[in-house]
Amino acid sequence: TGPELFAPERANAAGFDLFDVTELQRIDAARPAPAPWRVAPILAGPVAGDAVEAAHNPATGEKIGDVVLSSVADVETALASAAPWDAPAETRAEVLNRTADLYERNFGTLFALLATEAGKTLPDAVAELREAVDFLHYYAAGARGQAHGPRGIFTCISPWNFPLAIFTGQIAAALATGNAVLAKPAETTPAIAAWGVRLMHEAGVPRTALQLLPGHGSVIGAALTSDARVNGVAFTGSTATARHIQRAMAGACEPGTPLIAETGGLNAMVVDSTALPEQAVRDIVASAFQSAGQRCSALRCLYVQEDVAGTIREMLIGAMDELALGDPWELATDVGPVITPAARDGIAAYVDAAEAEGRLIHRLAAPPQGTFVAPSLISVGGIRDLEREVFGPVLHLATFRARDLAQVIADVNATGYGLTFGLHTRIDDRVQQIADAVQAGNIYANRNQIGAVVGSQPFGGEGLSGTGPKAGGPHYLARFTRAPGPRANI
Ligand code: NAD
Ligand code: ALA
Repeated sequence: TGPELFAPERANAAGFDLFDVTELQRIDAARPAPAPWRVAPILAGPVAGDAVEAAHNPATGEKIGDVVLSSVADVETALASAAPWDAPAETRAEVLNRTADLYERNFGTLFALLATEAGKTLPDAVAELREAVDFLHYYAAGARGQAHGPRGIFTCISPWNFPLAIFTGQIAAALATGNAVLAKPAETTPAIAAWGVRLMHEAGVPRTALQLLPGHGSVIGAALTSDARVNGVAFTGSTATARHIQRAMAGACEPGTPLIAETGGLNAMVVDSTALPEQAVRDIVASAFQSAGQRCSALRCLYVQEDVAGTIREMLIGAMDELALGDPWELATDVGPVITPAARDGIAAYVDAAEAEGRLIHRLAAPPQGTFVAPSLISVGGIRDLEREVFGPVLHLATFRARDLAQVIADVNATGYGLTFGLHTRIDDRVQQIADAVQAGNIYANRNQIGAVVGSQPFGGEGLSGTGPKAGGPHYLARFTRAPGPRANI
């Protein structure tokens, strides 16, 4: 299949990312994905296990493996056997760097799992591996400069939409600072997580310092977060789950135990009449539809100044029509599946309801098999019409008059979320004015608003979008440490 990969008709229509095509030879060698696989808890003691659950490829519906779910007894085993990683900081840094090398050497397998278990397209999988590797190196470097010691045991709970990058980032931060980690991956992505843990152990992380507990939040979540032996929780996922965990911790953990929560967003972009239309449309499409809209950072509500709204709307519909939905393995694919049939049905019902209300501007056709959702464009009066984060390829479009720009920003802030914000303008002063007024963790001007880069673009939100400190930034590791001295005794 090598040479045909260069054929122009197989080019990625949206141009979401660039990568070296020679790399594809290695990826192709990993076909078929390592399936069927069987994943079980990875503990420093005996595994009791719970029910066995089948995993499916979201693009095809095929069964790809089995997961032995963790039981509450497994959480107890993990807590009882966990021991902070007492190796010198230099050793911990070396092991994390070695893990990064192993990730890179195993890219074929990791890509196969990212595609078949999480429905990641090639550009998304490449970016995800790079982000995971960047987190490992960044926190390894940070480990060397830490003034304080570990807190003890950290529970790390991650989502399915970045099953390698976020999963690895949380764990790497906790390990870099010498903590023991109990890692709970999302229900739908246990195999990627198990592969990552396997590589961390192979690199030299002791089993007592890193244990994996695949399973349902509703079954093992409480045991993982409401126990006095837990000294911190790093969580990425929905705002509702973060609230639940906060309550669970409050009842059981030592006062002051940190919850580092990175949560959802209702993200907006403003395009004014001075913006370059071609550039704006390209960035709108990437922000809203790359990763099938399954990014916390994704654009949900686009505001276009009324003077250019007709042009932008027409160009946007044309660009949407170019998007190819399909097999994540194919280079031509721009948009892969959403994660589960339930997610597909929920998003489709939302768009159907908008259509019934006469607000649907445009919707593509989705492949009949698998969990595909057609990218859609819906008309709204403004962001206040969005009641919740719809986690898929659904973009809302509003227009604004130049004199109402301040009100647009006020409405965006009034959502209470504050994750990403995008701006397209050629007025330099406006960039600073809006950046000062918008309450959002990551503000991007004249580019897309997804894909923050570890180290140079620390990522995290305000308000309902997260507690901070930002991941991949200079203040993150400190939250995993404790200054020497007496513990709080309240
Ligand atoms: P989710 O909240 O449903 O699940 C996240 C994790 O929490 C999973 O591992 C789940 O098993 C676990 N969980 C569920 N209930 C729990 C409980 N009671 N106790 C402990 N753990 C529990 O979120 P999701 O659907 O996996 O991910 C999508 C959400 O994540 C979106 O809202 C998205 O915006 C957000 N997200 C945020 C960021 C960020 O950096 N801010 C990044 C990615 C995703
Ligand atoms: N860090 C991811 C992004 O920026 C969520 O898209």
